[in-house]
Amino acid sequence: EEKVEIVVDDGTVVTVNLEANDAMQFNTAEIKVAAGRTVKINLKHVGKMPLKMMGHNFVLLAQGTDVAAFTTAGVTSPDTDYIAAADSEKVIAKTKLIGGGESDSIEFAAPAPGTYDFLCTFPGHSAIMKGKLIVT
Ligand code: CO
Repeated sequence: EEKVEIVVDDGTVVTVNLEANDAMQFNTAEIKVAAGRTVKINLKHVGKMPLKMMGHNFVLLAQGTDVAAFTTAGVTSPDTDYIAAADSEKVIAKTKLIGGGESDSIEFAAPAPGTYDFLCTFPGHSAIMKGKLIVT
């Protein structure tokens, strides 16, 4: 199988080929982006398990968000991809929640320089499915 680079910066757009699998893992825990870039997240669920059992998304949180409180509040909101309505303003960008074999892509402007948490909001997943977006 051909090796695909996870993060590719063409000078304008930083493309992130983010994979999530049936073992509840992302293929990277760190994404570095230069300020001013557009970030394109190509999330691919490379597993086979259905959304209701092994759903994955990419959710980028505003700085200062209490990640534990955010995920706890979201558990009772399956209709909004496990993001509590009251917390929607804490989300900078998010993909759809997807199941095995599915994919979703989003684009957003890199936020101000700093370190930001990203995670999968499916219940229980953020203990492992989490990482940092670092804008420099
Ligand atoms: Co997940």
